[in-house]
Amino acid sequence: MRIILYAGKGGVGKTTMSAATGVECARRGKRTLVMSLDPAHSLSDSFDLAGSLMDFGGGQPVAVDERLWIQELDLQRELEENWGEVFRYLSTLLRTSGLREVLADELAILPGMEEVACLLYINRYAREKKFDVIVLDCAPTGEAMRFISLPTSLEWYMRKLFRLERNIMRVVRPVAKRLSSVPLPEDECFEAVQRLFGRLEGVEKLLQDPAVTTARLVTNPEKMVLKETQRAFTYFHLFDLTVDAIVVNRILPPAVRDEFFAAWRESQQGYIEEAESYFAPVPLWHVELGRREMLGRAELGRLAAKLFKDKDPAAVFFTGKAFEFTKSDGRYVLSIRAPFLKSGEIDLMKNNDELIVRVGSFKRFVALPRRVAALEPSAATLEGGHVRIVFGGSPDGQEDDG
Ligand SMILES: Nc1ncnc2c1ncn2[C@@H]1O[C@H](COP(=O)(O)OP(=O)(O)OP(=O)(O)O)[C@@H](O)[C@H]1O
Ligand SMILES: [Mg+2]
Repeated sequence: MRIILYAGKGGVGKTTMSAATGVECARRGKRTLVMSLDPAHSLSDSFDLAGSLMDFGGGQPVAVDERLWIQELDLQRELEENWGEVFRYLSTLLRTSGLREVLADELAILPGMEEVACLLYINRYAREKKFDVIVLDCAPTGEAMRFISLPTSLEWYMRKLFRLERNIMRVVRPVAKRLSSVPLPEDECFEAVQRLFGRLEGVEKLLQDPAVTTARLVTNPEKMVLKETQRAFTYFHLFDLTVDAIVVNRILPPAVRDEFFAAWRESQQGYIEEAESYFAPVPLWHVELGRREMLGRAELGRLAAKLFKDKDPAAVFFTGKAFEFTKSDGRYVLSIRAPFLKSGEIDLMKNNDELIVRVGSFKRFVALPRRVAALEPSAATLEGGHVRIVFGGSPDGQEDDG
């Protein structure tokens, strides 16, 4: 099974690319599901279906073509089915804290619930071998980050907090019940979480296996969008997810000659070239702005034909990492892949949270994670086909807390 994530800033074309990929995978004979992780669902709009999918799909996969299904999660239903006890506990808790019931129900949709629901489905579909390809249309970048970090944070939560709390609760509950009006979680609540965990088991491996899961970042040739894509690129690397393509969408086609667009064309050209130094060696795919919105199967099919030409959209287009952050002797080390570089003077320039690395004509921009951005690069070497950059002063391991 293949899992392909499309992520990026709001409005860049994630749903459109996901839908086009789905259409082409199905056309090539693969049982394909396009699943929307965005609470503001628009998959059904992309396929130009009347009404929202929720009306007739109830959050379940709906067939839109031979071998092609789309699914928009119904969060309320998912919560009831998967988080029943936990959800009820949270709502009671919020209610007793003086909130009205409706508001409490709203608030109980804690961040991360859509993501959990989606992970549950992925795991189930993988087990059932129901689909050959699952295309995930992610919510805008921030939420997508939460999604990819979720398996890690959930595990932590479960291991540290829940086991511990559950044992404490056993002792404390009888006493606390008499003292406080705030309800404490019952054992069933913990059991529900544990059951949920059982069902999530293995999903992290699926997401981190580049033969199964790859992410494609959708971007536009504009300053702010590219900045955010660069940051997302770094975070996907940090969470060990393979990015196998960057889709640069909404490029003005050469046929547009109107004077009004002259400056647009020029700035787009600049950003397209710059994008190479942000994301190489990950392949960049260029998509032109269409004459109109890309809605409906026929239009999506045409887009897919342009995007993939004779390539299989479910192929893995790049494996490995463009760069990697590690910690060695208490210092952060950034290692950038540069297989063709044998020698040369390394020129570094740090601009807030961005590092610009130049070796001759080789040029890379890397968005630095917050912790690393606070430090200055202190050494740079070329070894084993990598540019290796060390951050921070003396190796004291002082801030070594992972
Ligand atoms: N290359 C293109 N040419 C013409 N229209 C496009 C192109 N790419 C996307 N669109 C249109 O732009 C609109 C937004 O695209 P889309 O819904 O795919 O973006 P998104 O990234 O999923 O947005 P959101 O963050 O809101 O989910 C849609 O109406 C889509 O048809
Ligand atoms: Mg969308």
